[in-house]
Amino acid sequence: MKTQLEAISTQAKLAITEAQTQAEIENLRVKYLGKKGELTAILKQMGSLSPEERPVMGQLVNQAKAEVEALITEKGELMQQKALEQKLKDETIDITLPATEISKGKLHPLNTVLNDMIDIFTSMGFDVVDGPEVETDYYNFECLNVPADHPARDMQDTFYLAENLLLRTQTSAAQIRTMENRKPPIRVICPGRVFRADEVDATHSPVFHQIEGLVVDKGITMCDLKGVLEEFAREIYGKDTAVKFRPSFFPFTEPSVEVDVTCSECGGKGCRVCKGSGWIEILGAGMVHPNVLRSCGIDPEEYSGFAFGIGLDRLTTTRYKISDIRLLFENDKRFLDQF
Ligand code: PHE
Repeated sequence: MKTQLEAISTQAKLAITEAQTQAEIENLRVKYLGKKGELTAILKQMGSLSPEERPVMGQLVNQAKAEVEALITEKGELMQQKALEQKLKDETIDITLPATEISKGKLHPLNTVLNDMIDIFTSMGFDVVDGPEVETDYYNFECLNVPADHPARDMQDTFYLAENLLLRTQTSAAQIRTMENRKPPIRVICPGRVFRADEVDATHSPVFHQIEGLVVDKGITMCDLKGVLEEFAREIYGKDTAVKFRPSFFPFTEPSVEVDVTCSECGGKGCRVCKGSGWIEILGAGMVHPNVLRSCGIDPEEYSGFAFGIGLDRLTTTRYKISDIRLLFENDKRFLDQF
């Protein structure tokens, strides 16, 4: 019996050492230590022993069981540890890897400047109105006191879509649409895209942006125009900005002016941006021509008004020191990311 016990015990220890998986270990536990296990079976043979032999043999069996048990537990723990290590290894996350960059959207510089302008004018009581980019000849020219064959048409090279249909060359058409739809007092701005068949270069693009302004009420004078535009220029360019009104000509305003502000780059000393003059032209304006008021059903004897058209692109390029207007329209992300 003792030899049998030793054989089983040696065999068990060998099997445990060789076991590779936790399942194998579990099988060995059942095989040797289970209710029907081989070591348990030996205990059952004890009955055949003499009373003196029994305790001796009992002790030996128990000792063997304890040894096998200890080995199984030890190996089991080792395997668990190994399994855990493997799991951790498989599931490792490399936190040193740079994260995928999430690119944030931002406002185009034109929109940033436009939003500022809208803030300034709405704070002075102006409404924002919209107009179509495809206009009829009537709204873009005719009604603005520029009849067919009028030489002033040459000032704006026009993209015609059909006989009487064109891409608006100026936001001034919005003046007419507004006066047709609203009764004075009128105070509106109309920002939008305009189109001219100009030669493309660093300062000219076939698409650009204007903000048209229109005020019509009783007793509106050139002083009101000056006040509004001076306030606007100071808000946009800073408190020390000087504003210069130069006589000019537009068919739909009389008198007409072009408005310059001190160059924001050199403060008026003269530089590359202002081409040495110290001034930058930012808009055209004037008192709404009586013919225009009349064609919109407003009595020029009772009402007067002023209008202005600001070039948004010029404001943007000077504010951000952008050397070429075309950059505003190319949508190159490397350029836009700078703002
Ligand atoms: N529409 C004119 C232009 O594009 C600008 C302007 C607007 C002038 C309103 C006077 C009044 O040149």
